[in-house]
Amino acid sequence: MLKPKSSKIPKPTRYQNAAIDYYIGLTNSSYLHYGYWEPLPTHGEELTLTRLRVAQESYTAKLLSFIPEDIKTVLDVGCGIGGNAAYLCSRGFSVEGLAPDALQQERFFQNTNGQVPFYLTRFEDFNKSYSYDLILFSESSQYIAALDLAQGAARLLDSGGYLLLADMMRFDAEYQEGIFSNCHIASELQIALKKSGFNLIKTEDISTHIAPTIDLCVDNFRTFGLTTVKYIADVVAIAVPPLHALGRLAFKRWLEKPITEGLTARVIFESHLRYEIQLWQLSKKV
Ligand SMILES: C[S@@+](CC[C@H](N)C(=O)[O-])C[C@H]1O[C@@H](n2cnc3c(N)ncnc32)[C@H](O)[C@@H]1O
Repeated sequence: MLKPKSSKIPKPTRYQNAAIDYYIGLTNSSYLHYGYWEPLPTHGEELTLTRLRVAQESYTAKLLSFIPEDIKTVLDVGCGIGGNAAYLCSRGFSVEGLAPDALQQERFFQNTNGQVPFYLTRFEDFNKSYSYDLILFSESSQYIAALDLAQGAARLLDSGGYLLLADMMRFDAEYQEGIFSNCHIASELQIALKKSGFNLIKTEDISTHIAPTIDLCVDNFRTFGLTTVKYIADVVAIAVPPLHALGRLAFKRWLEKPITEGLTARVIFESHLRYEIQLWQLSKKV
């Protein structure tokens, strides 16, 4: 087993890690991605966490369908807690994972039975003396600047090697602020990848198949999150009125806007973004 490399984690990454840890707590799944809902839920059908877990298995199978036949070694960048790595390992791939979060590292080892090397580092700081056949970015591309991603991947692949990327992307470059604004502008990512020697081999828009997860999160937040917060606020109003007044001010000042925005996440996603799986290949030397 390779020894994990420790690294200094920047503050924005720590915020993201906190959100991811919250998601882990909610779903109790070994995947941190949106899943692939197939068949799509019918109108009015209840969306459940059990169905989300099925969709997450389907998503990983979908990723597998994009992996060319001759691939043996995979670097899983932003590997989360190991769901994808365990799945690929069970299908005979030799996998290594990396993510800049010690909590994920612990769960990664549990979910992969300690069989898969894990590097505790950001992709930007990762270096290896050997190359991989394929580099996977399953919902991790949005955390890494386009040029760092493209150049870093090119460095870790031999010519002819592959990059498989699945994520939300902004197709409306004017969308600059808000919950999904950290996602890449698709055209900019494409330019960075082409500049680094990659050619697009295959792409699929799976937006409609991930969207039920947004609905599920919003529904759960509305039903359990907001109801719980309201109950706590009511109790505080009775028990400690000045604290309630302070809480109201803080809510208005910092929370009302992001919460209102979060509740309209599906509309924001459909208006400005798409979710794509893209397979890229590094140019073969002539
Ligand atoms: C939404 S999760 C996806 C996890 C996993 N790939 C999956 O599909 O279940 C995003 C992952 O990217 C990682 N990440 C965030 N910033 C990163 C960076 N700069 N370099 C590498 N990974 C990063 C997070 O720690 C997390 O593991």
